[in-house]
Amino acid sequence: MTHSGHQIENMEPIVSLAKRRGFVFQGSDIYGGFGNSWDYGPLGVLMANNVKAAWWRAMVQTRDDMVGLDAAILMSPRVWEASGHVGHFTDPLVDCTTCKIRFRADHAEQTACGNPEWHRQGLTAVTCPGVKTEARQFNMMFKTFVGPLEETAAVAYLRPETAQGIFVNFTNVQQTTRKRPPFGIAQIGKSFRNEITPGNFIFRTREFEQMEMEYFVTPGTEREWHEYWGAQRIGWYQRLGVRPENIRIRDLPKEDLAHYSLGTKEIEYRFPGGLGWAELEGVASRGDYDLRQHSEAAGRDLSYYDEERKERYLPYVIEPAAGVGRAVLVFLLDAYDEEPDKAETRVVLRLHPAIAPIKVAILPLSRKEPLPQLAREIVASLRPHLMVDYDDSQSIGKRYRRQDEIGTPLCVTVDFESVNDGAVTIRERDAMTQERVPIAGLLPALREKLGMDSW
Ligand code: GAP
Repeated sequence: MTHSGHQIENMEPIVSLAKRRGFVFQGSDIYGGFGNSWDYGPLGVLMANNVKAAWWRAMVQTRDDMVGLDAAILMSPRVWEASGHVGHFTDPLVDCTTCKIRFRADHAEQTACGNPEWHRQGLTAVTCPGVKTEARQFNMMFKTFVGPLEETAAVAYLRPETAQGIFVNFTNVQQTTRKRPPFGIAQIGKSFRNEITPGNFIFRTREFEQMEMEYFVTPGTEREWHEYWGAQRIGWYQRLGVRPENIRIRDLPKEDLAHYSLGTKEIEYRFPGGLGWAELEGVASRGDYDLRQHSEAAGRDLSYYDEERKERYLPYVIEPAAGVGRAVLVFLLDAYDEEPDKAETRVVLRLHPAIAPIKVAILPLSRKEPLPQLAREIVASLRPHLMVDYDDSQSIGKRYRRQDEIGTPLCVTVDFESVNDGAVTIRERDAMTQERVPIAGLLPALREKLGMDSW
């Protein structure tokens, strides 16, 4: 790819492109929005599905030490007591009684003061002279009621992570698949957290999707596996086009670790604007914390019996945990490029073809028959294999620009010559080079240019 290295200063160009082109809309938009929720539009859902498919392919399909799972979102409340979430899944909440803002104590430096005059002076929640309450611990799990009566006996929680569905199924999965450590269980699904300060577009939301994998290893081997998975996961983002200068991995200091973690590597992305380097994915070493907690709380032995070594143990766990929305945001930000071109700037999303929502756009040069008919035949022949788009409105230059802006890697132009010579022109998004190919060989040519065999 030929990214100009252009770095945007804030998320605004992406937020507006996302809305304008149908990647992401504000949730409950016609009612003025709802609590920082977002809806994925026609292009956004294609892109998010591609991200999930790429993750599943790398984590499950191409490995023989991995299986998948799709556990229920609503689980026994005993799960969350045993996992420590009822007791510890809290954020320190502070109110500024003068500015009337509420913020997370550990986010005070990134939170702008709410008083307009002080705000103008660039004060943050720490530095502003307003009166603040002591930090209170606030549990982030959403509560709901199972059954028609709102009685405490029927309280349930929306899961705040998909991971626990994997732990409670460890023995079910291990015994049905006969996998032996080291092996992993992967899952993609929605999670919910009553975040105090959601924001930065889809970076932090109260409802979000996670891609999590729990890798069960023999105790004593966890350090090697932790290194291995850290390297695998950062490599995955880079293979899908994230520029190396914008992504890094680091070991979190002890005081930043979650209640279950022996050590966590954070994969961070250099977000534009105030966010700066921030978490994209966590790779945690969870020890046997979860299996031990559930074994004790449920009174069920979740240990593994190693037939060869004739010993029984609770496997240790390495957990790469990523967010779908956060990954989508990173792929959009990193791909965004503005290229000076004649009179106007060319906006290009240099998305990796595996992630791009539309792979190929078919563009008849004119609306005069037989071009549209031929173009539609081509669309029909490609559709079973690729996500294709058909566009016959406005000039060809404008149509290229529209496809560039949504990251479509290839355009196929059908012109008057095509009717006679049975050939069309493939135009590439990045280099803008053009190549004439026979319609009969179009699909293999597209597959090759998209690099589909290596996705
Ligand atoms: N099971 C471990 C776990 O859930 P986490 O670091 O809390 O770890 C993992 O979450 C990933 O999920 C994060 O790196 C992020 O990508 C995503 N994530 C977490 N909270 C999120 C939120 N409120 N909005 C969007 N994504 C979130």
